[in-house]
Amino acid sequence: NDRMNIAIDGPAGAGKSTVARKVAEQLGYVYIDTGAMYRAVTLCAQRAGVSAEQPDKLDQLARSLQIEIEPGEHGQSVFINGEEVTSLIRSREVTLQVSHFAANETVREVLGTMQRQLAARKGVVMDGRDIGSHVLPDAELKIFLTASVKERAMRRFREIADSQIITLEQLETEIAERDRLDEQRDISPLVCASDAVVLDSTGMTIDEVIQAIVKLSRTKM
Ligand code: C5P
Repeated sequence: NDRMNIAIDGPAGAGKSTVARKVAEQLGYVYIDTGAMYRAVTLCAQRAGVSAEQPDKLDQLARSLQIEIEPGEHGQSVFINGEEVTSLIRSREVTLQVSHFAANETVREVLGTMQRQLAARKGVVMDGRDIGSHVLPDAELKIFLTASVKERAMRRFREIADSQIITLEQLETEIAERDRLDEQRDISPLVCASDAVVLDSTGMTIDEVIQAIVKLSRTKM
């Protein structure tokens, strides 16, 4: 068995999910989007009226949730207690709050355990913030994918069909704030693992980034 695990971490909007999904496709691996799991917990908490400042309630909620992920055609489908929430977890409301819930110790413990189980048999490409540094410290290949905050905001801006409702400046502020919260939390913050390969995708196309990672993976096989 020569399958390996690949960790792709980096700040918000660096293109991790697109890149991770395509790399997995090319290698015949399973793609796992860990941000989707934090988003699912956030959606549930919001529905239950539980805030990130209520750790006891949040602990209980995190432990009782049944989160399932399934590889789908456009990445990954996410279910909570049997209900599909794949698009609901992409709302602005969830995006603006998720970093607060992701700072909770129990939430990270529950999801981290799930993530390790999913990667136990190898052959996964997992994207997130703390995969190389914390969840899968033994991953055979670790990538830290980044780009300037301007470039990341611009890419996101182009993606949003309804861009009139939010300005580029606003997007840039929100992305920078999410990075700040993710970098400054106490438990497994966003950090570049010491043995990660840093890829700055500013000025690179998605395909160039994908090919660079696939090429790096070949050197590890
Ligand atoms: O990757 P995505 O932008 O969907 O992640 C949403 C949020 O989930 C991040 O901003 C971060 O707060 C949290 N997250 C995390 N650890 C991960 C993946 C995501 O804390 N491994």
